[in-house]
Amino acid sequence: MLTKEQNERLTSVEGEAPMARLLREGYWLPFSRIEGLAAGAPPVRVRLLGGDYVAFRGEDGRIGFIDERCPHRGVSMALARLEGCALRCIFHGWLVDGSGKVVEVPTEGDRSATVAERVPFNHYPVAEHCGLVWVFLGEGDAPALPELPWAGLEGDSVWITRSVVPANWLQGLEAALDSAHVNFLHSAWPRNESEMDEQSRRFIAVPRFAVDDTEYGMRTAAIRESDDGVALVRISEFLTPFIAMTPAPLQYGERSGTFFIAVPVDDGNHLLFWGIFSQTGEIGSFFMRDQCKDQDNYANPSGSRDDNWGQDREAMARGHFSGFPDQLLLEDVVAQVSMGPVVDRSLDFLTHTDIAVQRCRQLILKLIERFEAGEAVDGSLPGVSTGLLPRGALIPGDADWRTIR
Ligand SMILES: [Fe+2]
Repeated sequence: MLTKEQNERLTSVEGEAPMARLLREGYWLPFSRIEGLAAGAPPVRVRLLGGDYVAFRGEDGRIGFIDERCPHRGVSMALARLEGCALRCIFHGWLVDGSGKVVEVPTEGDRSATVAERVPFNHYPVAEHCGLVWVFLGEGDAPALPELPWAGLEGDSVWITRSVVPANWLQGLEAALDSAHVNFLHSAWPRNESEMDEQSRRFIAVPRFAVDDTEYGMRTAAIRESDDGVALVRISEFLTPFIAMTPAPLQYGERSGTFFIAVPVDDGNHLLFWGIFSQTGEIGSFFMRDQCKDQDNYANPSGSRDDNWGQDREAMARGHFSGFPDQLLLEDVVAQVSMGPVVDRSLDFLTHTDIAVQRCRQLILKLIERFEAGEAVDGSLPGVSTGLLPRGALIPGDADWRTIR
């Protein structure tokens, strides 16, 4: 359980809130899939940490990322015309290039170049990395980009979705670390655990949980034991402050995983990137992929609280557990949204299975504290590399789960 004050520190992500400053000054934030920003397409509005921006990819393939407001009088640059590699404001025709420099002020006639020269730069560095487009919103030097395990994978070795979730970012992140919900909320779908089916029936249904702090955050294990002296272990990784990885289905082998990245849009909304990767093969056909209608707007709840977000009670009567039969990730999103835009964690009643969620909150609070005390925060995520993988494994019942590497 958290105090109201601690909850506020974790969930307030706008303006000068400590968490907003930490993320802005310390970390690259992903905001789009690489394929989600097409060369020559209209500019897109991006909202992060309560700030409004516009991103565009010029015809040369370079990405510009600027404040949404035109530096002249504040008209939205999401309305701008894309001309080659630059955006022209529709109000007075000011032209801003991909580096954020105003290059033409046509209303000034002959003085255009001189005036343009004096308009302050309006631009944030962007990088294409790990299938995503990242932006650094801080004023200081950007850290190195984190070397995540799906870095450098190409083609069908990685598959990524983006969802816009109308709930605070921490609700999205916590779902990724809450292993106990899988057996209930997602029980209609083939589960990672149950894909061990035949052999896993002998394992007790209720796992024991363990967490270990690491350089980058924590490893958490769900351990299910059997009568015949074997334990089934699933290890997830938390990369403080906003990335989590869980084991991929067994068919993808040991060098694979799924990931969740929860990026705050503002206090009541976040972007959720969910993906799956394999360092040794292709993703191919997979039920969560087969459920996809739009990779850039993947889990998109319909309706509202008034109609329970379209929950299908008839499907439930036919045996579907949650009543959201269209998509696994939609089950998570509806659960998060139903808590309200910012859940009050002082009202939680936590149990043993929430140990990872509790530790995650503590780690982020500690990070905020260190940041506020002026300690350097290394957004390159030291300790994270392409060799850091979530794992599922069978070990002797008396063996230590920490021996799994
Ligand atoms: Fe889930």
